[in-house]
Amino acid sequence: MSSSQISVAVLGATGSVGQRFISLLDQHPWFKVVALAASDRSIGQPYAQACRWVLNDPMPEYARDMVVVPATPDSIHAKIVFSALPADLAKDLEPQFAQAGFAVCSNASSYRRADDVPLLLPEVNADHIQLVKRQRQQRGWSGCITTNPNCTSTGLTVALKALDDSFGVRKVFAVSMQALSGAGYPGVPSLDIHDNVIPNIGGEEDKVEWEPRKMLGKLDGNKVELADIGFSAHTNRVAVTDGHTVCVSVELSRPADPEAAARAMRDYHAPASARELPSTPRPVIEVRGEADRPQPRLDRLTGKGMTTVVGRIRRDPLLTLKFVVLSHNTIRGAAGGSIYNAELLVKENLL
Ligand SMILES: NC(=O)c1ccc[n+]([C@@H]2O[C@H](COP(=O)([O-])OP(=O)(O)OC[C@H]3O[C@@H](n4cnc5c(N)ncnc54)[C@H](OP(=O)(O)O)[C@@H]3O)[C@@H](O)[C@H]2O)c1
Repeated sequence: MSSSQISVAVLGATGSVGQRFISLLDQHPWFKVVALAASDRSIGQPYAQACRWVLNDPMPEYARDMVVVPATPDSIHAKIVFSALPADLAKDLEPQFAQAGFAVCSNASSYRRADDVPLLLPEVNADHIQLVKRQRQQRGWSGCITTNPNCTSTGLTVALKALDDSFGVRKVFAVSMQALSGAGYPGVPSLDIHDNVIPNIGGEEDKVEWEPRKMLGKLDGNKVELADIGFSAHTNRVAVTDGHTVCVSVELSRPADPEAAARAMRDYHAPASARELPSTPRPVIEVRGEADRPQPRLDRLTGKGMTTVVGRIRRDPLLTLKFVVLSHNTIRGAAGGSIYNAELLVKENLL
């Protein structure tokens, strides 16, 4: 490890999101993976043996022989831990890491709603990272917890941010078609999803109706004022490997035609502090003009899986406009998002 690199660990390293971390952290310019943690099932085994690798890219060489360790602060020596733990476990373990001085960048839902925990999409609300200071003061931690949103809220919120800045967003009606990898590994049984759509994902609609309001909210001193936007969401599981597609209708405060909305999204840039980081999406939003795009298989790897892809922007007969959003759920919606958050922590000298 070079002296300028920052040591990081992955908790839940063998799962659907954990594998994305292993892959995205290979050759990362700032971060060096020094520990991989998982459950009793995997502890003590070399990663290559413990993990049933399901990504298309081969398992990176650096990880193969690393021996999996317990997900406890005393088993790990690193500055940052990326958490891809199940939420019930994250609830207990993440504060232990933060108290022990680690910066926890979490994918789990456990602390997304806490007043003093930033729920971050750096290209949307990089300024909310300042909540970490209040968190440290209030909880007496030398470390911290930052979170990224649920994977369906991710692309949706990026697209809404561009519209909100230009026209104001009042109401959102959203219907998701969510990929299988969003359910973890092994996830949904094949006989349940083959030839099928499952019109319910436990707890998901509530997250999609709440999390964008925190991220689009204003940081007022030490607190985020939730955005005053009405949301209604339907969430569905479909037989797609990766990439969540969301059909969205919006009511805007100021008039906007489809061309103006497309321009606002194409011209949208991340806030200055989040613009030149290694994981910054380039572009933040890609707007496609074809009548049948975005599609998960064709478009999910746009901008290395970090770009939000929007298409079919058109007038909505009930509200103002409607469109389709696609975002890679385990890259922008999970591991890539956490890594982007960690880069922002470094940039803001908050490690
Ligand atoms: N998948 C997505 O697209 C997505 C997107 C956003 C957020 N998230 C969130 O990210 C987290 C991980 O999701 P996932 O889809 O990667 O789940 P997953 O595939 O089920 O993986 C769970 C991971 O947690 C480990 N684990 C389970 N019990 C443990 C224990 N007692 N101690 C230590 N490690 C333990 C597992 O290790 P073993 O293999 O050893 O059992 C595995 O590495 C969840 O909170 C999820 O809600 C997921």
